[in-house]
Amino acid sequence: MPTKTKLVDQFSKPAGLTGRIMLWRMNWHHSRLTDWGLSHVAIPAAGAILDIGCGGGRTISKLAAAAPQCKVFGVDYAETSVAASSKFNARTIRSGQVSIQQASVSQLPFAENTFDLVTAVETHFFWPNLTGDIREVLRVVKPGGTVILIAEMYRGMPVIPAERVERAAGAIGMNLLTADEHRAVLADAGFRNVQIIEKRDKGWICAFGTKL
Ligand SMILES: C[S@@+](CC[C@H](N)C(=O)[O-])C[C@H]1O[C@@H](n2cnc3c(N)ncnc32)[C@H](O)[C@@H]1O
Repeated sequence: MPTKTKLVDQFSKPAGLTGRIMLWRMNWHHSRLTDWGLSHVAIPAAGAILDIGCGGGRTISKLAAAAPQCKVFGVDYAETSVAASSKFNARTIRSGQVSIQQASVSQLPFAENTFDLVTAVETHFFWPNLTGDIREVLRVVKPGGTVILIAEMYRGMPVIPAERVERAAGAIGMNLLTADEHRAVLADAGFRNVQIIEKRDKGWICAFGTKL
């Protein structure tokens, strides 16, 4: 049985058998949240899409299916996540539509102005330097392209008393932002037309903006 500390770390950096099981569970648990978030942005008909913190790989497979003419990339800094995502997307990797590699959001292995859409589901609250990391995302988004952050909890969400959310989030290393802080972090990094959508009955949030 993993220790409590190890289990706690599995959310931010899955590893080993426990990590693989958690990634499998997250693929199913985050599916509706992901569909809801993605419904707020246009999926490009052609071009390139990047999913950051791709975890078990289900978001990549949704994007690849929704945009068959797009090349879809995934990155994750955890080796176990890269392996799980690669297995989940084996067919589209073989066909050349999908490419997945190990990398941190802080140093994305892509040229500037590469992506039409960048997605990040249930991951940005773990990033080590959110403002700097969002600037790194901005660097790789094409002018006219979009970033979307999607999360199933945020500070001030109406579903559970705030203190309980903050305690639980803090325990697994999450830096929860309020809705206004989501707006500010995207705007401060340089994204424009920033919009925040809250699904208040669930406590979900998505924040998206455009690079001009
Ligand atoms: C809670 S999981 C979510 C996985 C997937 N996006 C989903 O919705 O199921 C968070 C993922 O983000 C990754 N991650 C956390 N910090 C990261 C960073 N700084 N750079 C890249 N990936 C990161 C973790 O390794 C993990 O796979």
